[in-house]
Amino acid sequence: MKGNAAKPRAALAAWMYLSVLGVGCSPAPADGPERPPAQGDRRTSSPAPADGPERPAASKASEAALGRFSRPSPAYPADLGPRNIGLAPGQLPDAERGGYSLVLSRCGRCHTPARALNHRYAEPEGRDVPDKEAAIASLNQDHPEFFKEPLIWQVEADVWKLCVSRMAAKPLSAIGEGDQRAIRAFLSWDSTRRKLGKKASDWKALRQSLLNRFKARYPGRYSELEKSDSL
Ligand code: HEC
Repeated sequence: MKGNAAKPRAALAAWMYLSVLGVGCSPAPADGPERPPAQGDRRTSSPAPADGPERPAASKASEAALGRFSRPSPAYPADLGPRNIGLAPGQLPDAERGGYSLVLSRCGRCHTPARALNHRYAEPEGRDVPDKEAAIASLNQDHPEFFKEPLIWQVEADVWKLCVSRMAAKPLSAIGEGDQRAIRAFLSWDSTRRKLGKKASDWKALRQSLLNRFKARYPGRYSELEKSDSL
């Protein structure tokens, strides 16, 4: 009996010792809630303390390999916008649901998904480029305003296609052909619905406010982007 009684005491002592050291008792940090849209690139949301140590070289190297920005502030006006389209993937039509989830995950890996969701690119839906060109011609008739404000709308038949394949070609993007197709289908659907459809005036207001806020906060970067026509 003596031996048995000693065991729990020893275990308790060991537990208290480890507790004091803080070993093994602190739970892994849970994933916090979504950060507010105003946060830019994901890394910037937890800045190192001003006088803190430099981040280890290894993490910098892997971020460089991922093509992440080293600039400490949001790099594009779109980065300041919402990180979703106000709908859960489950609320989307079947055909677009997968593409939307991929935008949130894949296109949110190196930078915030807000960059993809709030960019001026607007590619209409259609089977192929001629089909999309035809959609653009009729938009031009009915909504000339979409073609007069190039910082709000950049309407082109393959603008998302080019962007998505450029992103997929970046090292470690992990975006295969099938994923690219699904992402493009979603981005065209979203362009048609949210940027060129009945809610176009909401889109214009959102986009304009992102441009204004970005210009006020990062005037140097704004004029850099303006010069290279990349706002
Ligand atoms: C491997 C890292 C990486 C992934 C994954 C990635 N991006 Fe990017 N993205 C970048 C970098 C770096 C830049 C800035 C430099 C540049 O434009 O190449 C950028 C810039 C952008 C821009 C602004 C420049 C432009 O083309 O107008 C958009 C829009 C964009 N990304 C959309 C996307 C979309 C959509 C996806 C998902 C299909 C995606 N990104 C996935 C790294 C990535």
